[in-house]
Amino acid sequence: MTAVVGARMLDGVRQWLAANGTEPTPARVAEALRAQGRILGDAEVLGAAEQLRSELVGAGPLEPLLADPSVTDVLVSAPDRVWVDRGGGLELTQVSFRDPAAVRRLAQRLAAVAGRRLDDARPWVDARLPDGTRLHAVLPPVAVGSAYLSLRVVRPRAFTLAELVAAGTVPPGGERVLRRLLDARLSYLISGGTGTGKTTLLSTLLGLVGPGERIVLAEDSAELRPDHPHVVRLESRPANQEGVGRVGLDDLVRQALRMRPDRLVVGEVRGAEVVHLLAALNTGHEGGCGTVHANAAADVPARLEALGTAAGLDRAALHSQLAAALSVVLHLVRDRAGRRRIAEVQVLERTPSGLVATVPALRWGERGFVRERGWPRLSALFAERGAGA
Ligand SMILES: Nc1ncnc2c1ncn2[C@@H]1O[C@H](COP(=O)(O)OP(=O)(O)OP(=O)(O)O)[C@@H](O)[C@H]1O
Ligand SMILES: [Mg+2]
Repeated sequence: MTAVVGARMLDGVRQWLAANGTEPTPARVAEALRAQGRILGDAEVLGAAEQLRSELVGAGPLEPLLADPSVTDVLVSAPDRVWVDRGGGLELTQVSFRDPAAVRRLAQRLAAVAGRRLDDARPWVDARLPDGTRLHAVLPPVAVGSAYLSLRVVRPRAFTLAELVAAGTVPPGGERVLRRLLDARLSYLISGGTGTGKTTLLSTLLGLVGPGERIVLAEDSAELRPDHPHVVRLESRPANQEGVGRVGLDDLVRQALRMRPDRLVVGEVRGAEVVHLLAALNTGHEGGCGTVHANAAADVPARLEALGTAAGLDRAALHSQLAAALSVVLHLVRDRAGRRRIAEVQVLERTPSGLVATVPALRWGERGFVRERGWPRLSALFAERGAGA
């Protein structure tokens, strides 16, 4: 962004506006500039007003990046280190902040917009901005050197299945398997590392749910955007400043079960809610789904076990619930070229020891999904539930 008005003068205007408790409208900015003995032309006044406005209400220098439809993530790691991801890995941009204080100010302002506090006593925030953008920020000294910002742009609508095939996320022909998974009302989890597109794929798949079904979403931050006529969403919230009023994902899952869901969806399974989810899937709630963070599909049972045992469920009980509750894991990876794709489809199976393990059923080979050891089981699950051959 080219500064129309010098930084020092802008500071003066900022102080004047703050002292007068007023918004940076062009008239006010002109007044503020006059108060400093500056008489500027309309263009300069408008330029300064725009700059201050975006600093006060928008995302400041990040605004043009966030407005770019190809950008999915914006990361600030220092005043002059602003990165974007346009789907092909991280790129350093020309955008910079004046100094570390400017990054800190933006982080605090965005947190305030999201209704959260961010200060020395609580130096990080994970929240959602009103337009859906996910905000994470952490302040020094926890963040070393500068406040760090991580913004994840949420697309206003889900990808269609065809778009995911075109983007190389679903292999050609793979959409049939996904449709059958939904038609068979099998319960599944989408696994993958950070930012591999789990939430995005889940949104798309929810769009394949029959229009007569009711989808109930339970999420920490409302990110899912399913293209479906009957969706209700519940969002958790942290405790307030007095430390009360927290609503956790486990509370939401409990409430969701009383809301007659045809599909219970947990945005991301990452805590005690796993206990209620498994219980629900064991008591007639078919077709439930969610995402879970795991670097390999084979790690999913261990990950759920860790979450479940932390919440007080014993290991044997957890595995026996898991065996009955969950059928399939779709695993996403991000390859070196930055492309997000379904690397594997695995089915869950009980081993002789009584524990649950995953077995690969389909793997993305050279030209598309190739069948693996677990395919006969997956195919039988489809057939059992009338989802075609
Ligand atoms: N198949 C895709 N093609 C292109 N962009 C994608 C695709 N899937 C996801 N994205 C983009 O990548 C970013 C991360 O996606 P998403 O939030 O779905 O990932 P995630 O695995 O759920 O992340 P997290 O680990 O943070 O929960 C988003 O900005 C999204 O728009
Ligand atoms: Mg996610």
